[in-house]
Amino acid sequence: MVITTRNNLNAETTLPERLPRHVAIIMDGNGRWAKARGLPRTEGHRQGTENLRRILRAAVEFGVEILTIYAFSTENWKRPRAEVRVLMSILEMVIDRELDDLNQEGVQIRHIGEMEGIPQVLQRKIHTAKELTKQNSTLILNVAFNYGGRDEIVSAVRKIVEDGVPADQIDEALISSYMYTSPLPDPDLIIRTSGEMRLSNFLVWQGTYAEYYFTPTFWPDFNREEFLKALVEYSNRTRRFGKIDEQLSNRDVP
Ligand code: FPP
Repeated sequence: MVITTRNNLNAETTLPERLPRHVAIIMDGNGRWAKARGLPRTEGHRQGTENLRRILRAAVEFGVEILTIYAFSTENWKRPRAEVRVLMSILEMVIDRELDDLNQEGVQIRHIGEMEGIPQVLQRKIHTAKELTKQNSTLILNVAFNYGGRDEIVSAVRKIVEDGVPADQIDEALISSYMYTSPLPDPDLIIRTSGEMRLSNFLVWQGTYAEYYFTPTFWPDFNREEFLKALVEYSNRTRRFGKIDEQLSNRDVP
């Protein structure tokens, strides 16, 4: 069963009824997109950034509540210095150029990852973007920047120890509350573009029961229609959370 309009959808768009609340995306393939066209990798990142605007708009249109994007991993520091600089400057540029529009559109910007290590100027811009948009609720955009899933778990454990939490009070809910993503719900759907089929240290704790969607399309070409295809596929999956079909009264509730 499908509904035909939601928010300001194009009249001809058919959206599945069961949508993920929280979609996370590994925006992979910028470099290969550029190489295939004989262009420098930076041009791939530029096109990838343009595409992010389109997908953000589509997420709002489709009624996705939370979008988490993997923009820079703790492992990406190993890339050539010039490319690291470009990736840092992309986030700066996105904040400089897009912050007012994103704010007007009701996007709440959050950051997940370690602040330490990010250049001071960029840290301040991230802070400004978070502060300015913290009351917005149309879409929550979680930017994973200087983020690693294992690193997140290590830092959560450190904080738990620092807070002196007794061992018998440590359970899954408590650990979740120490994650960067807290208090947001875990992702329902994790998309990875470019044909790679691995998690690459993304949302290691939170992705346990997510549905995964892999597509060979490189990130700059992952458009609204491809996004919609992923949502349709998600709607056709049965989420069992360890149970069997007969036990499921509401397929989305663990
Ligand atoms: C992967 O492509 C992509 C990244 C390392 C992140 C870049 C993401 C963007 C430019 C989108 C917007 C970014 C921000 C900061 C808001 P890749 O370089 O790994 O591609 P490859 O696997 O083909 O080499």
